[in-house]
Amino acid sequence: MGRILVVDDERSMREFLAICLKRGGHEVTVADSGDQAISVLGTQAFDIVITDLRMPGETDGIGVLEAVKQLGLDTEVVVVTAFATTETALSAMKKGAYDYLTKPFKVDVINTVIDRALEKRSLVEANVALREQVAGRYRMASIIGKSPRMQRIFDLIAKIQSAKTSVLITGESGTGKELVARALHTEGTRSEAEFVAVNCGAIPDNLMESELFGHVKGSFTGAMSDKVGLIRRADKGTLFLDEIGELSLGLQVKLLRVLQERTVRPVGGETEVEVDVRVVAATNRELEEEVARGAFRSDLYYRLNVIELRLPPLRQRQTDIALLAEHFLTRHKAGLPREIRGFSPEARKHLEQYDYPGNVRELENMIERAVTLADGPLIEVADLPERKTTTPPLGVAAATVFPEEGIDLDRMIADFERGIVEQAMERAGGVRKRAAGLLGISFRSLRYRLAKLGLDSHDPATDETSDK
Ligand SMILES: Nc1ncnc2c1ncn2[C@@H]1O[C@H](COP(=O)(O)OP(=O)(O)OP(=O)(O)O)[C@@H](O)[C@H]1O
Ligand SMILES: [Mg+2]
Repeated sequence: MGRILVVDDERSMREFLAICLKRGGHEVTVADSGDQAISVLGTQAFDIVITDLRMPGETDGIGVLEAVKQLGLDTEVVVVTAFATTETALSAMKKGAYDYLTKPFKVDVINTVIDRALEKRSLVEANVALREQVAGRYRMASIIGKSPRMQRIFDLIAKIQSAKTSVLITGESGTGKELVARALHTEGTRSEAEFVAVNCGAIPDNLMESELFGHVKGSFTGAMSDKVGLIRRADKGTLFLDEIGELSLGLQVKLLRVLQERTVRPVGGETEVEVDVRVVAATNRELEEEVARGAFRSDLYYRLNVIELRLPPLRQRQTDIALLAEHFLTRHKAGLPREIRGFSPEARKHLEQYDYPGNVRELENMIERAVTLADGPLIEVADLPERKTTTPPLGVAAATVFPEEGIDLDRMIADFERGIVEQAMERAGGVRKRAAGLLGISFRSLRYRLAKLGLDSHDPATDETSDK
């Protein structure tokens, strides 16, 4: 039940309201003028203020409303007006009043308005509570999650953060693999040294070896000076091998040696240099399948996969959605002139019922967009992307009646493929890595298809950075 301040210069009205509200179980305080209301508001907290609009003296109802806003209170204001002054009531609504009541009114009308206002208040409070949870035990480094599966991941991270064993992080695109890799580093005993991230899919194979292992001056054209290489840069720290599934077989052998011998031999070098790195690898492929089809070395797989951290897709941890949404809201509303307090119940439901093929990254993009679109204190369904049905256009092709004269199967498949790939690219905002995730194929495979279908208008130099 709520704490309510009733403001009216007319005694009979004050008493009538006070009686009704007390009967409804609320705690009521009365003020007989706008000025008195303001002084009470300065010392006591209220959930709702019900104020008459027209009152004699310095401060009328609008004045009370403005004072509430000026004091920065989140108290809801309901204004009471005579029928003749409805227009003033509307202007009060524009100024942020919650609702208005037109005199004379029935008891149940008051009750409905008050109940709704209180419900809104408790919603806002729920949002605040969520925000507090974000800061507490539902957070590890910058990873947020309250679902049992994420809590288990937190436990596992805590257990292995200071060990030296290799870790393989798997999970669909956007599930937070890099975030977890960074947490393993910052939370563990290696945090003083560097966390070196290498995207195995982004560096061309011929450059990769010297990037990773370094080189000696003059070992090949262009090797103007000695280069330490990323592995040695991660000495005493963590080497994060992202998209490990993209590493060529040749480099897999060389990497395996590093893991076994704990030494690095730079390109063109004579001697092995000792290194102390912890390797954390990540992939959104099923490495086991890659091993089975000979694209990934099994010995390296077992070396990397000493501990596997499998990040569940967001659709399998629905309880994290509201919390993550809140987290991203706080992040993206920073610096905005408008105050956005949270999500309407419908918007929250909308968010929770979506299946997020792009996982947490997709949710974050949705919230960022909603924050820019929202013009009220709450994010509404209209601020979220329309939910597309997940039935692929496959239905159309399947329904086609097989024509008498036969078909050109290759062309039909190519057309279909082009349509799907184009849609995925559009959905991914042109970021190929994300599109690959949406299509459930590897980055490399997407690159190949784009080239094949003549859709590759991308400047490779600017590609992956836009994904971060
Ligand atoms: N549990 C989480 N809490 C907070 N933010 C998260 C969480 N999971 C992911 N994110 C955010 O979502 C985005 C994607 O996460 P990240 O880059 O770690 O995913 P990924 O699994 O490496 O994806 P990809 O396979 O596409 O590289 C990042 O902005 C990250 O901060
Ligand atoms: Mg990643």
